[in-house]
Amino acid sequence: MNTNSFERSEERFDVAIIGSGVAGLSAAVRAADMGQSVALVTKSDLDQATTRWAQGGIAAVLGGDPDSTDSHLADTLAAGAGLCDREAVRVLVDEGPRRVEELIALGAEFDRLASGAFSLAREGGHSHARVLHAGGAATGVEVERALVAAIEDRAAAIVERCFATDLVVEGGEVSAVDVITDDGSRQRLRARNVVLASGGAGQLFSVTTNPLVATGDGIAMGIRAGAEAADLEFVQFHPTALHQPSMPRPLISEALRGHGALLVDDEGERFVDELAPRDVVSRAIVDHMRVRGTSNVFLDTTRLPDVATHFPTITATLLSLGFDPTKDLLPVSPAAHYTCGGLMTDLDGASSLPGLWAAGEVACCGVHGANRLASNSLLDGMVFGARVVEAIAGGKRGADDNGVRSAAGPVKIRRFSLPQSGANKSADEPVERRRARLQTAMTEGVGVVRSADTLHGAATEIDSIGAGPLDSVAERELENLRTVALATVALATARTESRGAHWRHDFPATDDTPYRLVGTLDA
Ligand code: SIN
Repeated sequence: MNTNSFERSEERFDVAIIGSGVAGLSAAVRAADMGQSVALVTKSDLDQATTRWAQGGIAAVLGGDPDSTDSHLADTLAAGAGLCDREAVRVLVDEGPRRVEELIALGAEFDRLASGAFSLAREGGHSHARVLHAGGAATGVEVERALVAAIEDRAAAIVERCFATDLVVEGGEVSAVDVITDDGSRQRLRARNVVLASGGAGQLFSVTTNPLVATGDGIAMGIRAGAEAADLEFVQFHPTALHQPSMPRPLISEALRGHGALLVDDEGERFVDELAPRDVVSRAIVDHMRVRGTSNVFLDTTRLPDVATHFPTITATLLSLGFDPTKDLLPVSPAAHYTCGGLMTDLDGASSLPGLWAAGEVACCGVHGANRLASNSLLDGMVFGARVVEAIAGGKRGADDNGVRSAAGPVKIRRFSLPQSGANKSADEPVERRRARLQTAMTEGVGVVRSADTLHGAATEIDSIGAGPLDSVAERELENLRTVALATVALATARTESRGAHWRHDFPATDDTPYRLVGTLDA
């Protein structure tokens, strides 16, 4: 049932899901199959979530020898730089293959060899080729297509172009979510359980691979409602976004490096292991650009004879922008790509607020630690979207307090207050201009490498940005970006070490004992 409002608005749904990417749709399909009443709201069109933009694929061990889930686990822990929750990663790698098979049963098609076996790619940080792709580098489109078709066949109230503004907390539990529908009317969607699956916050930065909708709405709503947020200082910058003006920046998938493409500088020299984890490659690029005084490096795909047939979508994009990957060196530079942190959850996606759940990029359940391993994000959404629904069906209400365990033992939790995000002054500039100022401040102050000075500069600039009346989606998105930006700056300032995707000029060493920073809003 696809509607443009809640036809049964008096009804209290079993599950309200905010967001229509892989996590939200996986949760919705499962909940409908389990006989739960489901309402799914999405601020754009159903199939226009960030998932759609995912090129690189789904990392999963589908029974291949010599690969193993233990090896996938070890690679994920290594990329996460000591901050992954080992038990969460165990869940991810063990349950992932089953979720992939379910997706295939729903109709998703992944690339195969002539023999019929899956064509598996290797990407940075993976010790084996274990990444499924669809259409070369159009995996997100295929995942989204299969899940949208599945949910449209099931009994669910789907409301598109519906912006969730705030969570409603009654008696200490989340009981509803307030929304603004397409026609501007405000409604309260009542549900026994609210699942945030609204993605990350790449739009915090002026150079990003994320679409315009990635404004951290769920993270901000959760923070405002009092939920705990963690690991926001770990923003993943993808090393190889095409260096040209269009935004979002076209991504040149890591799968090309897995296929043999090389990173070279303006003199044609290699300077980094192309298959190191993303944080390592992005930092090497930024360092190299600084030393050489350039604003990009190059990806050399010219030695890959089958690049056009193997990566048809990327080739088409490149040709449309005037680059021929069989002949031209491709100018690339890092761009904000993935929010490793988010609302803190247990292994079932339960947040610190009863009745509130989170799955996918909006959540921080410990699978990514300080830096997500390539192609673990779609997998995360599929696995934890399903787990949320199973926990709800099992009668679970609140989060387990089972601590966070890294590979080396328990991770200390340091709790502290996040700054209030309300603007100090009213707006004297158009909202687009204020959003651009926030993005510039984050790009300059909270980029691949930060310091106390750059972080302070970002906080000061963001504080000086005024707010307009919250009567448009654009103003609300900006308010959400401000909330997540200030939380990110606060956590990045408090983390006085360098680890994974968080690298500081002024604290270049990594502490011996890993700790997680968990923030809640100052009461
Ligand atoms: C890529 O194809 O390089 C991106 C995939 C991912 O974000 O893991």
